Amino acid sequence: MKYSNSKKLYESANKYTPGGVHTAMRDVNPRLVFLEAKNAYIYDADKNKYIDYQMAFGPTILGHNYNYVNERVIETINRTDLYGIGTTDLEIELSEKICKHIPSSEKVLFCNAGSEATYHSIRLARAITEKSKIIKFQGSYHGWHDYVAKNMQSSWEKIGEDDPGSAGMLKESVDNTLICQYNNLEDVKKTFQENYNEIAAIIVEPIAHSSGCIMPQSNFLEGLRQICTDNKSLLIFDEIVTGFRHDLGGYQKIANVIPDLTTIGKAMANGYPIAAIAGKEKYMNRFNTKPGGDVWFAGTFNGHAVGTAASIATIEVMEKEPVHEHIFDLGNRMRKGLEEIHNILGISSFVAGYGSIFSNYFMDFEPKSYSDLQYHNKDVYIKYREELLKKGIFKLPQNMVRDHICYSHTKKDIDRTLELTEYALKKVLTDN
Ligand SMILES: Cc1ncc(COP(=O)(O)O)c(C=O)c1O
Repeated sequence: MKYSNSKKLYESANKYTPGGVHTAMRDVNPRLVFLEAKNAYIYDADKNKYIDYQMAFGPTILGHNYNYVNERVIETINRTDLYGIGTTDLEIELSEKICKHIPSSEKVLFCNAGSEATYHSIRLARAITEKSKIIKFQGSYHGWHDYVAKNMQSSWEKIGEDDPGSAGMLKESVDNTLICQYNNLEDVKKTFQENYNEIAAIIVEPIAHSSGCIMPQSNFLEGLRQICTDNKSLLIFDEIVTGFRHDLGGYQKIANVIPDLTTIGKAMANGYPIAAIAGKEKYMNRFNTKPGGDVWFAGTFNGHAVGTAASIATIEVMEKEPVHEHIFDLGNRMRKGLEEIHNILGISSFVAGYGSIFSNYFMDFEPKSYSDLQYHNKDVYIKYREELLKKGIFKLPQNMVRDHICYSHTKKDIDRTLELTEYALKKVLTDN
């Protein structure tokens, strides 16, 4: 593959932007500049075509530039945009849909990104409980702000220690965010005992997708629910990856565990910017969007016509068409195929996944928490993904163990990917 146009454009990007990319983690080798995307495919500046599994970290659940959603957005912005005052018809329609589908959602508020939603959820939990500390789990990502940017993809020697993810974080924030091990209820109980009556909330991804696909073990989510209820703390499900992707009602509907607050984003609008915080009415009424509320909630672009129209259209497609059936079927096909290839090649692996998400860990047991991932052979992982990239399969060639299937992927795409996976793995094994 040629990358000369990307290389040239990247030089300009780098001139005006630190590192040439607008989000940490977007740096890719070779440095690619993308010009086009359609359905399951993306195209770089040298017209190289890729079957995309990165899928922008998850939002484009229907596929890139999905006609039904795009047409609704275009039609909408010819009529309406942003007022900064009052309410729009689109906000009403979307709120109704969210409250209909997500079990914990009695009331909902819109913002623009997942990080805003998790920020609001934590501040609300602190206001309600009048407690300061929160629990998050090692390895989980809940956004870039000081409350949660801690102990994310920590290096192994940092596990069990405070590991702020950024310079410039407030010490108070770092100190008030306690870290527990995913799937370890004893650890959570011990942390509650050691911080008696000080914990406002647990924020948890119901499936730990920040680390690929670590499934909640039996009774883990139920146990968190009970611990929060017993300690008068709030349970926040961060469903920014799982919401709409695994079910219109989120993973809470599948697990039948109802959190107090839920954050959603990504797949809710098929790639258009919008996120939300939803929850029990008695809690949500504390936001000062309601007269008398004392928890600040604002944002110039909140409820923008683009995001709300895109989200309504995305949810409509999921309501009317077999979106989840299709992506779950393809997910199963991919996981089964990967297992077969690993067996044929004698590769030690655990192919994890749920529905449309698949993660192949090069380790010989199921990871139950982030620290188990130190047994995953990241060198083989990165190398085979580099080989795939050269063949037109886009999986981020970094140790981010999560791939996404969308409604526009076909069986043919999966089979082609499996064929090339076998080739790439064989090449990595011979080169080693
Ligand atoms: C589980 C989870 N929560 C929160 C966020 C933050 O969302 P955003 O990047 O839209 O701010 C992400 C982003 O990857 C996420 O995966």
